[in-house]
Amino acid sequence: MTTATYPDRARVDARDKVLGKTRFAADVPLARMAHAMTVPSRIVRGRIVSFDLAAARAVKGVLAVLTWHDFEGVKSPGFLMRGGYAFQGHQPMLSDRLVHRGEPIALVVAESLAIASDAAARVRVEYEEMPFGAVMESPLAQTLEATPTHTRGDTRAALATAAFRVEGEYLSPLQCQNPMELISTTAAWQDGTLTLHEGTQNSGALKFGVAAALGLDPARVEVKSPYLGGGFGQKNSLQGQTVLVARAAMLLDRPVKLVMPRAQLFHTSSFRPASRHRVRLGADAEGRLVAASHEADMQNGREDTFAANFSELTARLYDTPNYESSVRLVRTDVQTPGFMRAPFEQPAAFAFESAMDELAHAAGRDPLAFRLANDAVRDPVTGHPFSSRFLKACLEEGARRFGWERRGTAPASMRAADGTRIGWGVAVGAYKAAMSPSIARLRVRADGSTRLSVSGHEMGQGIRTAIFAALTEGLAIDPDRVEIVIGDPGAVPQHLTAGSWGTASTVPVVRQAAQALQARFDALRDGRPVHGNLHQMLARWRRPHIEVEVRLQAPGQPDAVFQRLQRGLPAAGGPDYPAFVSFSHVAHFVEVRIEPGTRRIRVPRVVSVVDCGRVVSPRTAASQVRGGVVWGIGAALREAAEVDPRHGGVLNNDLAEYVLPVNADIGEIDVGFIDRPDPLLNEAGVKGIGEVAMVGVAAAIANAIFHATGRRLRTLPMRAEDLL
Ligand code: MOS
Repeated sequence: MTTATYPDRARVDARDKVLGKTRFAADVPLARMAHAMTVPSRIVRGRIVSFDLAAARAVKGVLAVLTWHDFEGVKSPGFLMRGGYAFQGHQPMLSDRLVHRGEPIALVVAESLAIASDAAARVRVEYEEMPFGAVMESPLAQTLEATPTHTRGDTRAALATAAFRVEGEYLSPLQCQNPMELISTTAAWQDGTLTLHEGTQNSGALKFGVAAALGLDPARVEVKSPYLGGGFGQKNSLQGQTVLVARAAMLLDRPVKLVMPRAQLFHTSSFRPASRHRVRLGADAEGRLVAASHEADMQNGREDTFAANFSELTARLYDTPNYESSVRLVRTDVQTPGFMRAPFEQPAAFAFESAMDELAHAAGRDPLAFRLANDAVRDPVTGHPFSSRFLKACLEEGARRFGWERRGTAPASMRAADGTRIGWGVAVGAYKAAMSPSIARLRVRADGSTRLSVSGHEMGQGIRTAIFAALTEGLAIDPDRVEIVIGDPGAVPQHLTAGSWGTASTVPVVRQAAQALQARFDALRDGRPVHGNLHQMLARWRRPHIEVEVRLQAPGQPDAVFQRLQRGLPAAGGPDYPAFVSFSHVAHFVEVRIEPGTRRIRVPRVVSVVDCGRVVSPRTAASQVRGGVVWGIGAALREAAEVDPRHGGVLNNDLAEYVLPVNADIGEIDVGFIDRPDPLLNEAGVKGIGEVAMVGVAAAIANAIFHATGRRLRTLPMRAEDLL
């Protein structure tokens, strides 16, 4: 394994992005393009009795107003977690049945977006409404039986005899991903082939899911998704509008584009469900964590079951002999929730790492020293070794950079001259290091160009830059003429890019392809001298090109996973591998300042140190961490979807009222990396980074608020009014 540090380099797409040349799906120009607009349901649950479409159809320039009557024979592509391709098992517009507010009930297609929007507002619908419960507290919400998730030792007994005990309930609200890039689909139907342009993390699911829904041969469905303007789990599978737009393009025999207004995505896409966490912890007189209990309730929809997995993190974060966890799902009348950046880890770490801070305080320990003393050395769940774990190094390096030793011990002991209260907090996080099956096809040509087709999606995280670094390291090719094809299942099969496995899956297979190509070249060379790069030698030897194709899966996975990859089905492995367990780790140190009059909470300074294995693209990796920290600050202090239980929908469904941090909210974010290759997960030594970056930020802020004020806040978001 190479252990050299990769150089800092700009994004390979930096110039194009700055010049506005990067082409996102909704920017693809097609001749005769028609424009679509969806009509959202105005009720939560019930059925459509009748439509009055006359006014909409009368608008000049309207090409079609489609309702469920026009989708006869179309099937649901099925729920992703049950062998299907979509995150909503309930595909909208297949019948008169309505299951959540805002689901599309009609699709207007017109000559322009303005006409489509105008006509959509004129669609009249008569509904039959049924009672509903849209929030966990609703009388009609249905709480399912508790399911135990992890158990070891005798937690009840250990808690009963612990020298120090804490117990708390922590609340995390419903949150919605809001990538800059809106949800959109552009569909073109020509010569029996359907081409879809859509920003997606899962172009394979689009291909096979749309084919299944519309009864097409998957070979006649093409998907192009070279760039996304943010995914965050929202775009991780087939969404309801794709099937509708594809069908419209086929019916009208014209390309159709839909860009979903932001207000609608709060009610159409999957989201982070609300959750409640009851955490009980106990320590002995020496400051050892002896028992931990983590019981959670998590909101669900009714159509599908999105399983909760909070204890994957909390069962293995600390070396405690007694641990138990369980989860209760609460069915509500909402669309199926799903994965949003650090889906379970973000709320679980807020709860558990807040409770750890409370326990350290109760036991009279420094919260940093308390964590160092209770670090897990082997995986507490399986007893297997961690493939690598530098959490202690993250804590020690973070403390050094932050200046933790200057922290006043007592709460409310640090104050500025104007009365501003200062608090310093720490928390840790972890996120599974997973890998998906991947295929890379690499062709180096005598004409000086190189084409690499590989499984992967560029959500904006910088995967193209990491791919470029891995490809050009040690391969004598012209770096200016490298074409990287990703997000295109017509090139090589595409796996869902999510779960922080993108770089850890794509970079190793790209390195393997580069090595295989070099070996092919060396065989061809057969001892002859080499002057110049591979292209020049191929030209001299009159070989138009050489090509290799390689594939790679997670450790221990059988070759059968490639059959799933070939069908667009998820097949990632981790964090449990046959002989080890693999996680990325992070430590966050946060300073908060609380203004004396208003109690406004500011975060001027964060230090985050990450163990993500080898860092392939230092600049985009650091950007990922900063983005995760910013989102963590938003989750801690700003972000919540406000659901009116009588209305059953999100009221603050725009970026003016769904409050996110802005530039002025963010101070200094100092990012550090351990940058030590993981020796077991893959040959590149890469784990993941995208999600671990935000895990623990909210807890570090809550812990800093406690240190500043002596007040413990257990409900997200934490706002000024909570400190009055
Ligand atoms: Mo991610 S939340 O696994 O797309």
